[in-house]
Amino acid sequence: MNQTVIQGYADAAGDLIRRYEAISCAEMYTVVAHLFPKKGGRLIDLGAGTGRDAAWFAARGFEVVAVEPVAEFRSAGVSLHRSKRIAWLNDKLPDMTLTLQNGETFDIVLLSGVWQHLDTEQRRIAMPNLAALTKPGGLVIMSLRHGPSAPERPCFPIPVDATIELAAANGLELVFREAAQSIQVQNRAAGVTWTWLAFTPSS
Ligand SMILES: C[S@@+](CC[C@H](N)C(=O)[O-])C[C@H]1O[C@@H](n2cnc3c(N)ncnc32)[C@H](O)[C@@H]1O
Repeated sequence: MNQTVIQGYADAAGDLIRRYEAISCAEMYTVVAHLFPKKGGRLIDLGAGTGRDAAWFAARGFEVVAVEPVAEFRSAGVSLHRSKRIAWLNDKLPDMTLTLQNGETFDIVLLSGVWQHLDTEQRRIAMPNLAALTKPGGLVIMSLRHGPSAPERPCFPIPVDATIELAAANGLELVFREAAQSIQVQNRAAGVTWTWLAFTPSS
């Protein structure tokens, strides 16, 4: 199933690159902006798309690892957002074998618009990996998409409470939860809404 999603993104990459690059990071991250450390730090962006956000965080003092399985997005990202502070990885949830290989941990583990592409079993595999990537005192920040999806990039429903329970079972304590509307006009018109969650490792 995940190969279908990744192929769906690759097939539509030309159009999606333009759409994603037109999104304002400041607007998108309004809801969670207060959670990001002011002095920067190490951030991993899982499902980084075109690197729009990676570049935005790099410009704010973060060292960023941008993990993205779609080659078209990675190459657009490398050419559109040249920065010594961004390292690209070809890897994917839920296993993230390459990402986990060197045991590195991060101040921020970011999943923006990605969790909806994992089914229940994949989420069960992914959550402990998110915990393993998070520094003590760090944060996992994720946006959960609700509503219709493009059939060629299938999404699964995300029960918010079940996500919080799965995180807790993997040592990630909820510190923030807020609903938000979609900032993309066509998604808002289609009835897409979001929930932002943030977790920190329980001490
Ligand atoms: C809706 S886009 C969001 C992209 C980016 N985070 C943004 O906000 O612009 C979803 C992204 O997740 C990636 N993706 C899909 N399945 C994935 C998986 N199993 N592991 C990692 N990334 C995945 C897609 O290739 C795409 O870049």
